[in-house]
Amino acid sequence: MTTEYNFIKACWGQPVDRVPVWLMRQAGRYLKQYKEVRAQGGGTFLDLCKDPARAAEVTIQPIDLLDVDAAILFSDILTPIEPMGMKLDFVPGPVFENPIRTIADVDALVVPENMAEAVSYVPAIIKRLRVAFENRVPLIGFGGAPFTLACYMVEGKGSKDFASLKQMMYSDFPLYDALMQKITEMDRRYLNMQIEAGAQTIQIFDTWGGLLAPHDYERYILPYIQQLINGLNRDGIPIIYFVKHGGTMLELVKEAGSDVLGLDWHVNLGKARDLLGNDVAVQGNLDPTVLYAPKEYIEKEVQRILDENGDRPGFIFNLGHGILPTVPPENAIHMVECVHRLSQK
Ligand code: CP3
Repeated sequence: MTTEYNFIKACWGQPVDRVPVWLMRQAGRYLKQYKEVRAQGGGTFLDLCKDPARAAEVTIQPIDLLDVDAAILFSDILTPIEPMGMKLDFVPGPVFENPIRTIADVDALVVPENMAEAVSYVPAIIKRLRVAFENRVPLIGFGGAPFTLACYMVEGKGSKDFASLKQMMYSDFPLYDALMQKITEMDRRYLNMQIEAGAQTIQIFDTWGGLLAPHDYERYILPYIQQLINGLNRDGIPIIYFVKHGGTMLELVKEAGSDVLGLDWHVNLGKARDLLGNDVAVQGNLDPTVLYAPKEYIEKEVQRILDENGDRPGFIFNLGHGILPTVPPENAIHMVECVHRLSQK
């Protein structure tokens, strides 16, 4: 597999002339340009996700403004849940009106045969972006991991501990399994549809996977995520798997089988790489709040992470989680510039 993009090369563990960098949630409210497009027409966040012209525009904004090495499709992990039959709102956090609690609820969930029709705005945005970018930057498609999607579908909204899902998992495994099987199959079709439409990398967000103890992760998450990743048409398409708070169970997270592992800032990147070995690339892991620090401090932190990585290939610089909405954009620009300058061969 040969490619010109540093980002894709790094995903495959190939040498690069400087470390590629992008930011999770790089399109969003910290940019006034995003807020302007979001306000056009007075619509909601979901309206923006479903409007291919505007969604493509906000995907491109951080490429122009920050000079990052990859673009990520503008959407949300929860949008493909709507065609499963669950009404979704953002207020601004996500809310499902009728959360999943019983086997009748699970039986009623639809797994659309044709995801390209069910969420037709997604392939429409991807196709627009591929034309707009030509060969400028690669496009990352994404989805939520089955467990993280189940968290919202069962709780009905955000939560600190997602106790409703964990109660289901511990007390009624057949119900939990039936739900997870349906989500996993939807996800498989959804991500393959994005690849088919032109996504050049896939990132799977398991934002809440770290809520589980390692032995529970092994039993309640790993089989489904393995099934998902094994079911992707991944020829030439790197798969990135990010488990927030996965640092205490990296060997298990590696068993999911992705090409790249996303790390949050609770681990030392060098130690994590020693443990993981050189057959998997890593992405991370600056604490997102460091972007509130003075410029010199940001530079030192970038240098520290580059030093932790050393000269190992297979490294993509990123935040350890999404950029926060009140971060000054010039600090994000500075961070990207530091990564490029300090890692230039
Ligand atoms: O730039 C990008 O990274 C692409 C866009 C993107 C969004 N959501 C847009 C968004 C991505 C990759 C996501 C993923 C996502 N969504 C995750 C996994 C990653 C993570 O951050 O943990 C999760 C858990 C969600 C669910 C979600 N969507 C929540 C909890 C919220 C509310 C809190 C928040 O961050 O605003 C959203 C809304 C959301 N998703 C917004 C954006 C830009 C804000 C909506 C607005 O503009 O008002």
